[in-house]
Amino acid sequence: MYRLAPSILSADFARLGEEVRAVIAAGADWIHFDVMDNHYVPNLTMGPMVAQAIKPHCRTADGTPVPLDVHLMVEPVDALAEAFAQAGADLISFHPEASRHVDRTLQLIQAAGCQAGLVFNPATPLAVLEHVIERVDLILIMSVNPGFGGQAFIPSALDKIAAARRLIEASGKAIRLEVDGGIKVDNIRRVADAGADTFVAGSAIFGHSDYAAVIGRMRAELAR
Ligand code: DX5
Ligand code: ZN
Repeated sequence: MYRLAPSILSADFARLGEEVRAVIAAGADWIHFDVMDNHYVPNLTMGPMVAQAIKPHCRTADGTPVPLDVHLMVEPVDALAEAFAQAGADLISFHPEASRHVDRTLQLIQAAGCQAGLVFNPATPLAVLEHVIERVDLILIMSVNPGFGGQAFIPSALDKIAAARRLIEASGKAIRLEVDGGIKVDNIRRVADAGADTFVAGSAIFGHSDYAAVIGRMRAELAR
């Protein structure tokens, strides 16, 4: 039930394909792909061409596909969401305040064959879910302000994760609850206890020389 989604934002960008293969060999369930546009967030990262280039690397040694989890920190959203669907994204998440028409953007992502997610910044209320939860495949709670890897986990995210879990239960839908920002071996258990089932981790994994050791420790925390 738990999924670990290493964020390649903290990988070596000069060797991205190799890094993706290495982290999958180390046990990654999803590859988390952070798209920043220097407009919605103050940083600039990767576009659809890079997603397309790493897509063939998103599989295990025996050929099982590993989902490409695209986190759009861009404004506006729609044209880039379509471009990432074309490039091979499996899941596409966006920030509701960055789209003029949230329901339309969710539909557009699903019509393109992807799962659609909504992302909530630390100060963004979950209220928009009241009207669109039926269309959502994934809820992503930010536990840092978006834009950079390596920031500290914001503790108020725990209450928000619990609130999102209650909304998911009330909906009766199988919606994934992902958390992004400051996830480490020493807090992943608390985040899971709050109700999360999918964990993004960038610096905790890529900042260590042995990816499998970190992923193994995270799984051990989740198993206890
Ligand atoms: C931040 C990104 C995160 C980032 C997490 O805006 O959305 O996915 O890579 O990095 P860590 O795990 O280092 O906080
Ligand atoms: Zn992210």
